[in-house]
Amino acid sequence: MENFDFYNPVNILFGKGKIAELKKHIPANANVLITFGGGSIKKNGVYDQVISALDGFNVQEFGGIEPNPHFETLMKAVEIVKTEKVDFLLAVGGGSVLDGTKFIAAASCYKGADAWDILAKRARVESAIDLGAVLTLAATGSEMNSGGVVTKAATKEKLAFGSPLLFPKFSVLDPEATYSLPKRQIANGVADAFVHVMEQYLTYPVNSPVQDRFSESLLITLIEEGTKAYDSETPIYDEYANMMWAATMALNGLIGAGVQSDWATHMIGHELTAFHGIDHAVTLAIVLPGLMTQLKEQRGEKLLQYAERIWNITEGSDEEKKTLAIQKTEEFFQSVGIGTRLSDHNVGQDSIDTISKRFLERGYVGMLPDVAVTDVAEILEARL
Ligand code: NZQ
Ligand code: ZN
Repeated sequence: MENFDFYNPVNILFGKGKIAELKKHIPANANVLITFGGGSIKKNGVYDQVISALDGFNVQEFGGIEPNPHFETLMKAVEIVKTEKVDFLLAVGGGSVLDGTKFIAAASCYKGADAWDILAKRARVESAIDLGAVLTLAATGSEMNSGGVVTKAATKEKLAFGSPLLFPKFSVLDPEATYSLPKRQIANGVADAFVHVMEQYLTYPVNSPVQDRFSESLLITLIEEGTKAYDSETPIYDEYANMMWAATMALNGLIGAGVQSDWATHMIGHELTAFHGIDHAVTLAIVLPGLMTQLKEQRGEKLLQYAERIWNITEGSDEEKKTLAIQKTEEFFQSVGIGTRLSDHNVGQDSIDTISKRFLERGYVGMLPDVAVTDVAEILEARL
């Protein structure tokens, strides 16, 4: 196993009715700004629960944070934070609202000329406004990590940022807050969390049975519980709760500690969202089978472990086992209604050329050298 530091200070408040406990976790005299998205929280009762839990607090609101949150939108909230002297941000929503709020927290304290540098130049976050979260969509893990992804609409750039200062102080995970999710977003959550595990698991063996078996338990849980939640006519608490906890555990740093992580699937996927607006998770379901095929030899050992332990593939040659595991992975995404081919989303060769050019200019893809910038075109062409 490799050396690692593992630090995660997020207080998780998990379960039914937990939104009512918000008050205990926000300083009594705080000037709170509630941030949210396009209005789902007003339809499903979460907004009312939050407002009622914050009775007696000085509360303001900033709504309209879009999926794949825009820098341009978030900078409007930064203005409010500065003029209204907000000192606590409460994100109520999915990964986009949480990520956007992390960016607001950092940009509001940023001393440089252009807060976009936090993403484009990886400018260090020296201070940030405290934030908490009420999660309404199980998928990204943003509720228990210190990173985020923001898009500049003007230039179609989607970039990541992070800082230990951006861990939420707490996150409320009430599975009932996710009951109103449409099937498409349940599927997205399953696929995103699944690929988060794969980015940290399907790399190279470093003799890490704890991390490997944690990862495998998450993958199996996502397949079993995710499928059930997707198929259920009406939400069943345990299915949604298991989904939610699996998604949080998939990206809170635990399974990635001491092992080699990749993130090439995410890096390529982000470009598909930036140029075509395809849902984050869908881009991952498109790219992952291509990347797995490309790395069949290099990552063969882990791929065979995955084939056997996740899909119970024990017969045939190594080549046949690997091929079948990749096919099962793609079929799993398709089983929750995700179109796994670029052609399903009207993306063609011209876009592959643009994306591949962007990587050639950037000079890197993921964190491991086995995916070169020159491989991106081939990976995507196999997904047409
Ligand atoms: O905007 P509202 O009206 O709230 O509607 C949202 C949005 O349209 C809706 N929704 C959320 N909760 C709902 C609900 N609808 C009904 N009932 C509910 N309970 O779902 C739609 C999608 O929401 P969004 O927040 O965009 O989805 P998700 O949680 O999948 O977040 C995706 C974003 O997270 C980033 C992605 O890149 C993308 O920008 N990621 C963040 C990561 C992180 N911070 O660690 C890691 C991930 O890999 C990912 O990159
Ligand atoms: Zn993701």
